[in-house]
Order: sequence, then structure tokens, then C-alpha cells
Amino acid sequence: MNDTRSAVRAVYAGAEGRLWELLMGEQIHIDGFASSMALAAKAGVKPGLHAVDLCCCSGAGLRFLAKLHGLASGIGVDMTGEVLRQGAERNRRDGVAERIRFVQADATATGLPSASADLVWGEDAWCYVPERAALVAEAARLLKPGGTLACTDWCWGARRPAPAEADRFLAFMKFPELFSAADYASACTAAGLRVELCEDTGRFAPAIERYLADVTIQRTWDALAIIGFDQAMAQAIVGEMQHALALAKAGMLAQVMVVARKP
Ligand SMILES: C[S@@+](CC[C@H](N)C(=O)[O-])C[C@H]1O[C@@H](n2cnc3c(N)ncnc32)[C@H](O)[C@@H]1O
Repeated sequence: MNDTRSAVRAVYAGAEGRLWELLMGEQIHIDGFASSMALAAKAGVKPGLHAVDLCCCSGAGLRFLAKLHGLASGIGVDMTGEVLRQGAERNRRDGVAERIRFVQADATATGLPSASADLVWGEDAWCYVPERAALVAEAARLLKPGGTLACTDWCWGARRPAPAEADRFLAFMKFPELFSAADYASACTAAGLRVELCEDTGRFAPAIERYLADVTIQRTWDALAIIGFDQAMAQAIVGEMQHALALAKAGMLAQVMVVARKP
């Protein structure tokens, strides 16, 4: 596993991942439930689908689809064994273990059969994958003809930060680089998908503002407990979140939603 991947795996196997879950809940993406509901609606998700969630973490996306959208079966793919073990427990807790299974693999090379999924799902996670165009191509390979790619992701916004600002944000988040909405549209088209929707959801800055308020007011104690009551580290994290908020408010960061179909 290369350095980028081992740094990301360490995040989700450890304290930083637990911090994200404290701030965001089990659905570790901007606006959690509301964002998933919007993505399912825009993608036209209906009961009876077979889905693959790429970079599923503990599998909250598949449990959401199983409990609320009549998912027939789902496979979650993630490279971090710790989150998949936690996900298996949560699947049993929520009574969906028979419909959802996990594969520990790189999302760019899942080893799953071609043309096997009605829906490939991804929520705010593909930003961690350096070979993002290859990941979109893997999603397209997994889709049956007529199937749907539905994802949200952290992207550059309409304006780009100066290189030093971009590097600071990428290093804090352990992102290799980010796509823009236009990069997603190009990658989908190159992978043979027809893009139906590729747009800024407008959710990013307000959500970061809420997380900052939570971590500095309501949940400070819980956050400190996760990081061993290291107040210097807590201040540093808050500083980086404030930096991300400033970039977002300047239109430089966005959550982008993509819906694309395989002809
Ligand atoms: C933000 S979490 C995903 C959150 C999840 N989609 C949700 O909405 O709850 C990011 C996940 O991506 C996984 N990941 C990052 N790079 C990956 C890769 N190349 N292949 C597979 N999983 C990867 C990490 O292990 C982590 O569990």
C-alpha cells in the first residue's frame, strides 16, 4: 500500500476517523442524511436494486439504501479492514446483514464482476483516491447497461485557491488532489457514461460552519476525549477547519453531486 493510502487508512482506523464520526454521525459525509436523500432522489433510486458502494467506510450508505429504499443487495468496497469489521456489526444491529456484504479492496480494482450493478454509489470519499479517473472507470465497468453512477464528493469550487492554500488544505485532509465538477463530467464521459447531473450542492460551507460550532461548543469534551485531551492538537484541528471554511466561503471548495448513466 503506498504512502497516500496508508495515511488515509490510519485516519479511518484511528482517532481522526472517530472525530469525523463524532461531527458527522455514522454517515460520514457533508449533510449526512439530507445529502443521501437528495442523491437517491436525483439518481431515481427505486426498490429492488443491486448496488456497489465504493469507499463505503462502515457501510452507512448501503444501510441507508437498504432501510429506506428497498435495496435488494449491496456490496461495500473499502480498503480499511477496521471500518468494515465495524460495518458488519452495524449491519447485524440494523437487521440488514443478509443483504449487505463487504469486500476489502482498493476501489480502483474491486475484483467484482463487470456489468453486475444497477447502482454504483459513493459519498464524499472518492477525493481520497489519487487515480480518480480510474475509479470512475471502475464504477462504469461494474454498472449494467442502463445502470446509474450516483456520487457526491469534495471538489474544488468555481475558483481555485493559491497553491500554498490548496496544499495546506490537501495535507490536512490527506487528499492527494481534488477534482472540479468539470473534471468529474470529463471522467464520466471518458468512461462511457452519460452525465445527467454534475453540480455544486451548495451544502459545503454551511455544513463546515455547523461542524465548527459543534466541535467548539457542544462536543468539545467528546472531541478532546478522542484525541487524549491534547488541547494543542484540538486548536490545530479547529484552525484547519476554519481555513477550510474560509476557502469554502470564497467559492473554492464544494460538495459536488454527480449522476451519470451507462448507455
Ligand atoms: C469519508 S470515508 C467514506 C464515508 C462513507 N462514504 C459514508 O458516507 O459514510 C472515506 C473512506 O474511503 C476509504 N478509501 C479511501 N481510499 C480508498 C481506496 N483507494 N480504496 C478503497 N477505499 C478507500 C477509506 O478507507 C474510508 O473508509
